Amino acid sequence: MPVILGIESSCDETSASICADGVILSNVIANQTIHEAYGGVVPELASRVHQQNIVPAVHQSLLNAKIDKNDIDAVAFTRGPGLLGSLLVGVSFAKAFALARNLPLIEINHMQAHVLAHFIDDPKPVFPFLCLTVSGGHTQIVLVKDYFDMEVVGQTTDDAAGEALDKTSKILGLPYPGGPLIDKYARLGNPDAYQFPEPQIPGLNFSFSGLKTAILYFIRDNVKLNPNFVQDNMADICASVEKRVVTILLNKLKKAAQQYNIKDIALAGGVSANTGLRQGLKQLGDEMGWNTFIPQFQYCTDNAAMIAIAGYYKYLKGDFVGQDITPLARMPF
Ligand code: KG4
Ligand code: ZN
Repeated sequence: MPVILGIESSCDETSASICADGVILSNVIANQTIHEAYGGVVPELASRVHQQNIVPAVHQSLLNAKIDKNDIDAVAFTRGPGLLGSLLVGVSFAKAFALARNLPLIEINHMQAHVLAHFIDDPKPVFPFLCLTVSGGHTQIVLVKDYFDMEVVGQTTDDAAGEALDKTSKILGLPYPGGPLIDKYARLGNPDAYQFPEPQIPGLNFSFSGLKTAILYFIRDNVKLNPNFVQDNMADICASVEKRVVTILLNKLKKAAQQYNIKDIALAGGVSANTGLRQGLKQLGDEMGWNTFIPQFQYCTDNAAMIAIAGYYKYLKGDFVGQDITPLARMPF
């Protein structure tokens, strides 16, 4: 019964998780509120807060799981992609812990781990399946052939979906991260109040920068006519923006499913916490006869449980790395 300690520190969440024989026993996530004032993650501040949080997060993950540190069999950590300074804290902790206790180390690709979050709970998707991974930094349609055999078949050519939502919320004067706030206001508004353009990008790729610019000009023009336009119409603006982002994502996902003739369709990454996207996928899945898979909220945004479960599958293969391992800001599959 292998017990894996998972460590995640690629952006602004410090997270530690214990996975025993493929079952997640704990998933401790320390969020960083320090970035709210800056409208985005400040890398230098993020790595300093990771340094403060990493030991308490691991300690709490052991307590929650009721596991003694002597029972850990391997340490899995996010090697990349992410902010280099943030990754360095998790990688250094994992290496030190493994060195001190003579344990094997397992490197994990953060984007693969978002996909593998689907192997935490039942029902699990069947290979090959398609996974739409949408986060603050990435928008990918991934063809998942096996646990570690994945191919990106579509991706954004500019901004990520989460980035588009975060930048929109900044235009609207909302604090970072804006995705959850757009979600909250969107529930109270009319999604057909305003029409934003759907970019015509060939194949399975995405583009979100044109949408962001369209929103910027729309707000600028309307605020000229009514200085309180944003405050007066916040819910309708958020609902309309969310609707457009969701239709852009789901239209491409539908195209990919038809192209690859696949009916097991999954959603992953921070933006998969979005209520409109979750509902939209379920509805489209019913129409298309898909089996759809959406992780629990705690496994959508950055978390170490997905690192620990990915670590478990690598442990079964004996796929370990040495103490000379270094983090990677960019890390392709
Ligand atoms: O996967 P994640 O936690 O971190 C990255 O790897 O980027 O994703 C963070 C992104 C942010 O853009 C955030 O605004 C977005 O996920 N997000 C949401 C929601 N919760 C988080 N976007 C829309 N609706 C939500 N409920
Ligand atoms: Zn992520």
